[in-house]
Amino acid sequence: MSAKPFYITTAISYVNGVPHLGHAYEMILTDVMARFQRLDGRDVMFLTGTDEHGEKVAKTAEKNGMSAKEFADQNAAAFEATTKTLAISNDDFIRTTQERHYKASQAIWKKLEENGDIYLGKYEGWYSVREEGYFSEDELRESEDGTKFTPNGTPVEWVEESSYFFKLSNYTEKLLQYYEAHPRFIQPETRRNEIIAFVKQGLRDLSVSRHKDRLQWGIPVPNDPDHVMYVWLDALTNYITGVGYPDVESEAFKKYWPAQYHVIGKDIIRFHAVYWPAFLMAAGLQQPEAIFAHGFINVQGEKMSKSIGNVLSPDGLVETYGLDQTRYFLMREIPHGQDGNFSHERAVERINADLANGLGNLAQRTLSMIHKNCDESIPSPGELTADDRVLIDEAYNVVNLARDEFEQFKIHRALEHIWKIVAAANGYIDAQAPWTLRKEDPARMQTVLYVLAETIRCLAILVQPVTPHAAAEMLDQLNIPEDQRSFAHLNEKNALKPGTKIEKPEGVFPRIAMDEAA
Ligand code: MSP
Repeated sequence: MSAKPFYITTAISYVNGVPHLGHAYEMILTDVMARFQRLDGRDVMFLTGTDEHGEKVAKTAEKNGMSAKEFADQNAAAFEATTKTLAISNDDFIRTTQERHYKASQAIWKKLEENGDIYLGKYEGWYSVREEGYFSEDELRESEDGTKFTPNGTPVEWVEESSYFFKLSNYTEKLLQYYEAHPRFIQPETRRNEIIAFVKQGLRDLSVSRHKDRLQWGIPVPNDPDHVMYVWLDALTNYITGVGYPDVESEAFKKYWPAQYHVIGKDIIRFHAVYWPAFLMAAGLQQPEAIFAHGFINVQGEKMSKSIGNVLSPDGLVETYGLDQTRYFLMREIPHGQDGNFSHERAVERINADLANGLGNLAQRTLSMIHKNCDESIPSPGELTADDRVLIDEAYNVVNLARDEFEQFKIHRALEHIWKIVAAANGYIDAQAPWTLRKEDPARMQTVLYVLAETIRCLAILVQPVTPHAAAEMLDQLNIPEDQRSFAHLNEKNALKPGTKIEKPEGVFPRIAMDEAA
């Protein structure tokens, strides 16, 4: 176990809308990793927040008849509320409209300038307001009426204005060398290949400001009140604002920078794996260890969109399936880095099979038998058979398999390993039939129930990152003290003590009916 600090971030969300399933997925994915590392003894700093400047927010605010700030306040509050709804364990919530962030963004700008990487020029080209990004002619496709679209399908407009540029072209070789020397930097592999191919074509300088005639909603460029900073330079900087930049001598900065992970969606990989490392190189700062790009979630096989009416809200999901159930389903169902699909049928099936019938039933059967037949306390085991040992040892050791999977952000695989133990324990209970032993061999029944309770203790500790509430309830029922719930307690030394009183068990995962709120 290592006490090395672990700094992890989500992307910061645009406040031109309210949170949906896609945002929820990213928050949960990052949260599960953060919780896992904390339970594994790491000192974790987890940052999430909102990206509030830029043309997109300014335009949507205007459409809604509000000032950009009022509009941003309202939606930032919705995102912050979602972190609570989803039990996200972030240590800080950053808003790019905060003073600390103005300070950090202007400081990094000055660093880039001092490094000779910023110059004033004229921008002419295609710009997507929705993506807040620039595109070259050959990346675009044209519809019948002549409108041009980006590869992600958002319209672009021709922009001509005076603008500051960042000398990104100077970084083509440096970035390629960096990717080569750091194979874990861009994950998964498919995204790494995509980025390397893109950078190999050669990078052009990047427009990093907007003229005030076009946009005022941004952070002023230091010493030039006619320009505000390009929203992506402002937004990316949040990752260092959150740990105290520009005070690079602060305790937080020294401890947590560079970050272990920036967790983002695949649509914004270029900003994170090309622009951000170039800015950091120019500012003389260290690179994050890894950028992990997850896939996109579709709903019932289709991209979420307001016009189709299939945009799922985090609140609605939690109401329909329960919080732990929603978290579990998303983490178990969507493979590492790939796109996923949210379907009601699949969610009900998985939740019932793995949680209600799987872990929930195992705990309920075992603990109620103990409560009823063992004087409401943990029974004393006799000598363990080979079968008993196998189950308990697997429960102690599965954390090593899970750790290897988490190391590669393969959370669904880690859950697969853990649920093999759930299946093994349910198989064990059927094979041992403690209800028969009750009359025939009560001493053996006690051993069997002890083995099961000890396995449940381990399982409850292990599932805490994904289903924190149900896990806590199971650990409470077993009367495990709060400070004995980390991965360091997954061993015989910390095994359940016979005679410990247990609480009356309550089912932690109810079954869901298929037609409920379909
Ligand atoms: N503001 C930028 C990020 C700046 S980070 C310095 C942005 N915001 S966003 O609100 O559009 O998206 C926030 C995150 O949610 C991104 O990582 C994005 O990929 C993710 N998702 C948005 N829709 C999604 C799905 N349908 N599925 C999964 N993730 C999705 O981009």
